[in-house]
Amino acid sequence: MDKITPAECALFSKYICEVSGISVDPAKAYLFETRLGGLLKELRISSYEALHGRARADATRKLEQQIIDRIATNETLFFRDEKPFELLRHKILPDLIDKRAPRCRGGLPIPIRIWSAACATGQEIYSIAIVLKELLPDLKQYNIRLLATDISGKAIARASSGRFNQFEMGRGLPKDMQQKYFTLQGGDWQINDEIRAMVAFRKLNLLHPFAGLGKFDIILLRNVAIYFNIETRKKVFQKICGVLENDGYLIIGSTESLTSICPDMVPRRYLKSIFYQPQNGSGV
Ligand SMILES: C[S@@+](CC[C@H](N)C(=O)[O-])C[C@H]1O[C@@H](n2cnc3c(N)ncnc32)[C@H](O)[C@@H]1O
Repeated sequence: MDKITPAECALFSKYICEVSGISVDPAKAYLFETRLGGLLKELRISSYEALHGRARADATRKLEQQIIDRIATNETLFFRDEKPFELLRHKILPDLIDKRAPRCRGGLPIPIRIWSAACATGQEIYSIAIVLKELLPDLKQYNIRLLATDISGKAIARASSGRFNQFEMGRGLPKDMQQKYFTLQGGDWQINDEIRAMVAFRKLNLLHPFAGLGKFDIILLRNVAIYFNIETRKKVFQKICGVLENDGYLIIGSTESLTSICPDMVPRRYLKSIFYQPQNGSGV
């Protein structure tokens, strides 16, 4: 494998942070080598410095995307950490429906807008779609909008396919849900059409403007801010607050906290879970 020099590590660390917000310690030479070495070979580029130069010069940003796809950690699983999904099922969704129902008299469907803002390969948003289907058997009474976005085009393509291998299926998904919502096709498992059709997938970099996204009742931004520095975390969460309804709900990763990052959001506890709501919003 081609060796990366400390100067090249510094170049990539800066570049990756600029384009994605992801902080990679320049001392982690092995990380750059294992994740970008293959790209160097594939494109027959002679050095990491040349790869960096080419990426910066590439107006199509195709190379930038290829680098991000390799650097981003897409680790995820169905019903990750379990508690957020219990929280959705037993607290957030029932409360939200109670709040929205009085505004929808005359048979208007009740709107439920949920955004999984760094969805990786889709297990998070499909877990939510399954929770909705289990909780609300008559989905027609609701105007459900599930959006799942990620910076990685590769991850989004996989998420959108709704296809998972045996290993992925064995991580977090109860067997009865596997039987109910997936079918075996050529060795992989395909999520059923009804669940797949509930979700819109889109590539979106959290550093870029959120123009045109609209507002959400529930946003999940889990296990991504840990890769950002404090300044980037603050900026991203501030933007997230801007697209959350003022009585909406924000769920972050189980090891993450918004203390000193986003004073506009107040933590609320339910059983052993925490969710956040806007400070000046109309609350729970
Ligand atoms: C570890 S996964 C978390 C997936 C899921 N939220 C979960 O908790 O299981 C982190 C995801 O964040 C995405 N990501 C990293 N930087 C991003 C950015 N600037 N904008 C959008 N997504 C980003 C990565 O591509 C990756 O898929």
